[in-house]
Parts: sequence; structure tokens; C-alpha cells
Amino acid sequence: MTLQYRLRWLSLHGLPRAVLRVQSRRGDPFARMMGPEGIADPHPYLERIRAQGKLVKTPLPWATCDHALARTVLRDNRFGVRSSARVEIPQFLQKLANRVPPPANPADPPAMLRMNPPEHTKMRRPVVSAFTPRAVDKLRDRVETVTDELLHALPDDGSVDLVEAFASRVPIAIIFEMLGMPRQDQEKFLRWGEAMTPMLDVGISWHTYDRAMRAAQELNDYLDVHIERLRREPGEDVLSNMIKGAELDHYALKANTSIIIGAGFETTANLISHAVSLLLTHPEQLDRLRAEPELWPNAVDEVLRYEPPVFITARSALTDLELAGVQLPQGAMVMLSLAGANRDPAVFDDPHRFDVARSNAGEHLAFSSGVHTCFGANLARMEAGHALRALFTRFPDMRAAAPPRLRPQLTFRGYEHVPVELGRSVDATPSAIG
Ligand code: HEM
Repeated sequence: MTLQYRLRWLSLHGLPRAVLRVQSRRGDPFARMMGPEGIADPHPYLERIRAQGKLVKTPLPWATCDHALARTVLRDNRFGVRSSARVEIPQFLQKLANRVPPPANPADPPAMLRMNPPEHTKMRRPVVSAFTPRAVDKLRDRVETVTDELLHALPDDGSVDLVEAFASRVPIAIIFEMLGMPRQDQEKFLRWGEAMTPMLDVGISWHTYDRAMRAAQELNDYLDVHIERLRREPGEDVLSNMIKGAELDHYALKANTSIIIGAGFETTANLISHAVSLLLTHPEQLDRLRAEPELWPNAVDEVLRYEPPVFITARSALTDLELAGVQLPQGAMVMLSLAGANRDPAVFDDPHRFDVARSNAGEHLAFSSGVHTCFGANLARMEAGHALRALFTRFPDMRAAAPPRLRPQLTFRGYEHVPVELGRSVDATPSAIG
């Protein structure tokens, strides 16, 4: 088992990691961006890539920060997804690596994010109806109640880590209810989520990969039992519907459950944490929201534009084709920087300025586009909008207690800790928050 995992790591991460290290030393901006300096502040590297052209060859894939080009690729069915920016290893080793499938997880097929139509459609269909604007509207009361309970549990005038105490708690509570998962298991999922999200990066260390795989195995064991229970006693939840649909085998069910849970809380938690951190460092923007609360939904989109929780994605050419005047062979991979597209000066005026009243903030690509476009977008916007407004209403004097700390990963970019001094608390009725 360990040998198979080592080989998979070598192809998916070990060799790309070696290439990136060498190129980083040579000053390549893409390689630098994927390393520690880039994780701390990726924008200078994105701007260097942008300055080189619309479509730029990097040591691993091609790359673009161009909004129009990224959107075109995402919507073009001549492109598809594949497992990762792997470096091919000899075929006999690849065969050996594939002999033992990894535990079902969000980063490998058959998780829908890694599948192309028509299989992709089969995975997505049974789930999307639970996330339509109408369905999400019905969850509003629950989001308000959960937010309220969490805020009331925070200490008056105390110091807390906002990620731990609030930002990750709202989305996990809601996605758990939607999937019919017992509330007491949230802690485990927070731990597994933290261990597994680095899998979506390129070139992670063996230690990080091994930790992710162990977490994936624990998650699989958990889901074996949970899915079995729902087969016997189905409920009205999303997962029971997926099981009833019966189009997915057990492994595919687990892979797709893991992505719905993971994507359902990690990203929204990062959105809320980014928003808090941005608003605390841009007090004039927070003042504007206090004066014009109707700007909150736009502010959420501006946070998504400015600090997208999913920083990059990628597609590969399913056939030989031409893109932006470049001939790409079948299999060529294009890294689409959602963060770069979101700061494309051709679309956004003064793109490095954070402006909650920006008139076209919603044109960001934070939720991607095309067949894989995020179906959780309505839910994420609603959850974050309410949670943020309620938080800043209850703690009007909240301020940073120490600099926030980012997670050491790029694809799912977000904070590990956002320490804050809460200040006095103010009671506000939900209707006062809106
Ligand atoms: C701020 C919050 C969120 C952000 C920024 C976000 C972002 C994204 C992005 C960028 C993609 C597509 C990636 C690609 O094209 O390669 C995606 C897909 C997905 N998202 Fe979200 N997401 C968020 C919240 C949610 C929520 C709340 C759910 C709830 C279940 C969710 C579930 C999914 C799933 C299952 C996919 C895969 C869809 C597919 O492959 O067809 N996301 N998300």
C-alpha cells in the first residue's frame, strides 16, 4: 500500500515539486508563486505572469491571468479536467501505482470536479436541485439561527480566533444538516478537511500527502457506515437523494460526498475569514457598509473577487487545438488563475483596490464557469452575507488582535487563524440585521 501511495505521490507531487524548486531558484514567477513566498503573497507573481502575455508557458502547465481567456477555456468543451498537473512516470510504475485505488477523496476521480461529461453530469444531477436560489432561500432561517447561536456563545469583550469560533462553524453546521450528518461529528470533519485540502495543490510534500491520505481513509471508513445507515433509513437530505438515485456506485458516492462536504465548508469559511480580515484592515469600507447596509451582498462579491477562496484551477486540452494563437497538443494543461482573472485591469478598474461598492464586482470568476461552475454559490453568498453582517452588528468595536495567519497552501487559499478582540457586544434582532 505504502509503495503505491509513494508512486502516486511521486507522479502527482514529488516530481512536479522537484521541477518547481529548480525553476523557482531560476526566478520563474509560476514556480515562485507555488512556493512559500507565493503562498504568502501571490499577486506580484501573478502580475509578472500577466505581463508576459495572455497565455504563458510555465515549467509545468501553460498559465493565464486573463479574465476573458480563462472564462473561454472554462466554457470550451474541447477542454476537460484531469487528475492533476502530474509528471508522467514510466508506465509499469504508473500501473503499479493504480493497482490500489486511493481512498475516495475530492481531488481524484470520480469526484465530480475531476470528471468530464457525460459521467460528470451523472454525478452532478442528483445534487444541484438542493442548491437552487429557491432551495437556498428556505435555508435562510437556519443560517440565521445557527449564526445567532454561535455569536451568543462568543465571550463579551474577549479574544477569539475567528476561524475556529465562527467562520468555519456556520458553513459546516449547514452542510451537515443538508447531508443528514450528526452534529457531533463536525470536529472530525474540520480536522479531515484541514488535512485534505492541500491535496488540490501541486507539489505537496510526502508528509502532507501522507497526512491527507490518512485523513481520506478515516473519512472513507466513516462514510461506509454513514451511507449504509442512510441506505437502511433514508431521509430527505441530499445524500439520501444521491443514494436513492442509485446511479453512483459506493466509491463514487463517497468521492462526491467528500467533495460536497469539503467544498461546502472550507471555501465558505475562507470567504468569511477573508472578509473579516479585509474589513478590519479597510475600516473606511466597513464604515461605508454601516452607512449603506444594502451594499453587503456586493461587498461579499468584492471579497470573492479580491481574495477568491479557490485561487487557481486547471483544464487540459482534450484534442489538439489553438488557444490565443498558440498550438496546444492534446493533453496540454492550462492553469487558470481565478485570482489573476479577478484582477484583470481589462475588466476591473484599479483592480488591486478593495472597494465594497465596485459596480461590477460580481463579474469575478471565483465560482468558476462552464460545466463545473460552483453550484454552492447561492448558498455561500447567503451564508457569508448573513454571517458577516450579524458579526459586525453584534461586535461593532471588533479589531485585529494579531496578524492573521494563512494556511500554507495556494489552491484553497484561506486563513488558519484570525485572532480578534471582540469588544463589547450589542444585541440585535435578526430583522435589524436583514
Ligand atoms: C465561497 C464559497 C465557494 C467558492 C469560492 C467555491 C468555488 C468553487 C469553484 C471555483 C469551483 C469550480 C472549480 C473548477 O472549475 O475547477 C467549485 C466547484 C464546486 N463547488 Fe464550490 N465554492 C464555494 C462554495 C461551495 C459550497 C457552499 C458548496 C456546497 C456544496 C460547493 C460545492 C461545490 C462542488 C460540489 C463543486 C464541483 C462542481 C462540479 O465539478 O461540477 N461549493 N466551487
